[in-house]
This record gives sequence, C-alpha cells and structure tokens, in this order.
Amino acid sequence: MAGATGRVALVTGASHGIGAATAHLLAARGMRVVVNYLHSDTAAEEVVSGIEATGGRAMAVRADVREAAAVESMIEQVQAAWGGISVLVHNALIPYVIKPFQDMTWEELGGKLDDEMRAAVAVTKAVLPAMTEQGWGRIIYLGTGLSRRPREGMIALGTAKAALAQFARYLAQELGPRGITVNVVEPGPVEDTRMADVLDEEHKQRQVAATPLGRLAHPGDVAQAVAFYASEESAFMTGTTAAVNGGMFMY
Ligand SMILES: NC(=O)c1ccc[n+]([C@@H]2O[C@H](COP(=O)([O-])OP(=O)(O)OC[C@H]3O[C@@H](n4cnc5c(N)ncnc54)[C@H](OP(=O)(O)O)[C@@H]3O)[C@@H](O)[C@H]2O)c1
Repeated sequence: MAGATGRVALVTGASHGIGAATAHLLAARGMRVVVNYLHSDTAAEEVVSGIEATGGRAMAVRADVREAAAVESMIEQVQAAWGGISVLVHNALIPYVIKPFQDMTWEELGGKLDDEMRAAVAVTKAVLPAMTEQGWGRIIYLGTGLSRRPREGMIALGTAKAALAQFARYLAQELGPRGITVNVVEPGPVEDTRMADVLDEEHKQRQVAATPLGRLAHPGDVAQAVAFYASEESAFMTGTTAAVNGGMFMY
C-alpha cells in the first residue's frame, strides 16, 4: 500500500473484536499501531504480540477514551515513542442500555449520547495538531447501520451513532483543506464480537436469512473497509459512509 510504511495509527478499543482485527490489518500494511483499550490488559498485549510475531510494530496503551486527560496522556506517550499519529480509527464500544424508549430514562439515553460524543471529541482533538502539521490525516469512525435503520431496543446506540455520523460529515468539511479525510464505516451485525455473543442462535439465523451474501460479517470484513479509508487509495473520499453488512440493508 502506497505510503503506509511507518505511519502511526491509533485504533481505540483494539483489544477485542473489530478493533483488534483492524490493528492486525493496519500493521500488516506497514503501519505502527497503537492498541488502545480500557480493561483487557492481557487481550491487548496478545494483539501486540500477535502483530510483532508477524514482523509488525504495535504498542498497547490503556486509556479511557471518554476522559480527555487520559487521551492526552496516551497521545503524549505515543508522540514520545513514535511521533505524530496520522491515522485515527475511533472504534471503542462504550456500553449502552438495550430497552424500549418507554422504559428508558434520560440518564440512560443521554449517558450514551454524552459518552459517545465526549470520546469522539477527545480523541479527535488530540490527534488533530499532528495531522495538521503533517498536512495529511485519516480519521475513521465506527458507526452502525442501526443509526439509519431502527431495531427494537437499540434507540440509545442508534441515536448516539447517528450523531457521530453527522459529526463526521461536519469534520470532513472543516478538515478537508488541511489534507485530512473523515469517513464512517457502518457494519451490520458482526460475529466474534461481544455484541454477537449475546445474540441467541435463532436471532442470528434470522439475520443471516435477511443477508443477500448469506452470512454475518467477520471483524476482518470491517477491518478491510477501515484499511481502505486509512490508505492513499481513498485519497479523494471524505464525508462518506461504507456499509459492511452483506447487503442486509442498502442505502
Ligand atoms: N459488533 C457488532 O455487531 C457491531 C455492529 C455495528 C457497529 N459496531 C461498532 O464497532 C465498534 C467496535 O465494536 P465491537 O463489537 O468490535 O466491540 P467489542 O468486541 O465489544 O470491543 C470493544 C472494545 O472497546 C474497548 N472500550 C470500551 N470502552 C472503552 C473506553 N471507554 N475507552 C477505551 N476503550 C474502550 C474495549 O476495551 P476493554 O476490553 O479493554 O474494555 C474493547 O477493546 C463499536 O463502535 C461498535 O458500535 C459493532
């Protein structure tokens, strides 16, 4: 991949699922990858050692992405070791409540909105100075198809991710002149993630039946779309959204 070698990529929430698959793929494409996580020290270290075992470079950094001070200190640590971050993949999945609106309190709905946007603002503000200085940057946010197509009980997640998607478009407009692109990857249901682990088999089979490509996504499918947005090949794309859902819904 043109120009990727040595670039520094930060993947938030990279100890599991989509983030871990993305960290592996970006490292395989020659980037030095920061594996951010919150609780799972062992899992994050396993992602790093897996990358290093195949000749890649990675470091694990614990930071709660909802806390600006923790994010700043993570960025300073990376800056000291490797220099400025060129690629931000904001993927961390902040927990949320699944229930109908009728039973939901403002604290539950507003809490998810606040966490989602607070984290996006903190990580984005922290990486912008280096990207601006470099005159080159790639920002990729993980959204969800549920921000467009409602599913029972998912109002907190869907509403928060819809805000994130519009935030991304505003940033794309503002940051384009600095050589920074901003795009969103919106997966459908993804296997081998904690979310998928809570779905029962019957529910999963219904989702597969509704998917033209005949299976659910794997984390690696999502990582491929992220890696494209992180590369030179997507140079003239900003403010766009890639759906990775096997055709489960189309827009
Ligand atoms: N799974 C799906 O079906 C699906 C579908 C559509 C969209 N998505 C989106 O894809 C993204 C990744 O989802 P996933 O299912 O792969 O997640 P996951 O397997 O549950 O992993 C979540 C990751 O986020 C980290 N994390 C959680 N809170 C954090 C915080 N405050 N600060 C830093 N890291 C934090 C976790 O770290 P620790 O383990 O260390 O706590 C973990 O590495 C999310 O944005 C999600 O909304 C997922």
